Amino acid sequence: MPSPRQASATLKEEMERCVADVNKTIARLLPETDLHEERLYDAMRHGTMNGGKRLRPFLLMQSAALFNVDPVRARRAAAALEFVHCYSLIHDDLPSMDDSDLRRGKPAVHKEYDEATAILAGDSLLALAFEILADRETHADPNVRVQLVRLLAEAAGPKGLCGGQMLDLIGENEEFDLGTISRMQRMKTGRLMTFACEAGAILGKSDDAHRRALANYAHDLGLAFQVTDDILDIEGNSKETGKPTGKDGDAGKSTFVSTMGKEQAKARAEMLVQQATRHLHVFGDRAEVLREMAEYVLERRA
Ligand code: IPE
Ligand code: IPE
Ligand code: MG
Ligand code: MG
Ligand code: MG
Repeated sequence: MPSPRQASATLKEEMERCVADVNKTIARLLPETDLHEERLYDAMRHGTMNGGKRLRPFLLMQSAALFNVDPVRARRAAAALEFVHCYSLIHDDLPSMDDSDLRRGKPAVHKEYDEATAILAGDSLLALAFEILADRETHADPNVRVQLVRLLAEAAGPKGLCGGQMLDLIGENEEFDLGTISRMQRMKTGRLMTFACEAGAILGKSDDAHRRALANYAHDLGLAFQVTDDILDIEGNSKETGKPTGKDGDAGKSTFVSTMGKEQAKARAEMLVQQATRHLHVFGDRAEVLREMAEYVLERRA
């Protein structure tokens, strides 16, 4: 058994490698152009190549590795997923949504460019994600590609991210109970995390039991991740998170923290992380990095 110190060094290395690999793939997918509308591509690059922990790509690539998926394919699916995540952040920061000027330590896309360009850059990243997934280079089997496209569409649409974002805005004017907050968080954040883990299983044509285990892990991890995001909004440091703090309270958002207080929210996140890791037992030692990832979600400062 590796000591915890050795184990977390491995996680850090694996995360750094993932950031480098995904950044290279994204750069290849968004080259500079000499087109009249280059401003749009520039804004897309600003919204994607501005740092970011690349956690969703990390989950996808680690899950894919469990099934020995070709890393080139995994990286393409990971970049598509990151494009959807980045689109959601660009739109989330707009004045009509969270009205946030700083993202990943840099001006939000609507500040660096303008609102209309930010809307178009987000829309374009969303569309490009599906173009990438539907391309033969992502997988030779069209059934695999269709499954990926369908699952990402479900995760991004009204049953997932957009539905969750709608609830998030409604929750500024209504007091939600815990059940509604959980449902909102699972939709706006959890569904993309679930896609990340299930995509690895889909690319690897895994059996149902292994795919379900990963989906259950991601389901709990995604909720824990949003709980810690809400905690960081009140006790985080903008220099570390790269985004303003105190926004949720100012907007009157319904979060776990606003409903149950910071300490109980932390306890809830810990419980969810323990629950998440239990789902990985079917993978034995091979899922060690995913287990460590879950612990990292509790300790993260960014
Ligand atoms: C921020 O996600 C938005 C949430 C769903 C909480 P991340 O914390 O993963 O942001 P980046 O990608 O590292 O900037
Ligand atoms: C964002 O939640 C979830 C998305 C789907 C973008 P937040 O609004 O809390 O994310 P941050 O704190 O701005 O990153
Ligand atoms: Mg928001
Ligand atoms: Mg926000
Ligand atoms: Mg937040």
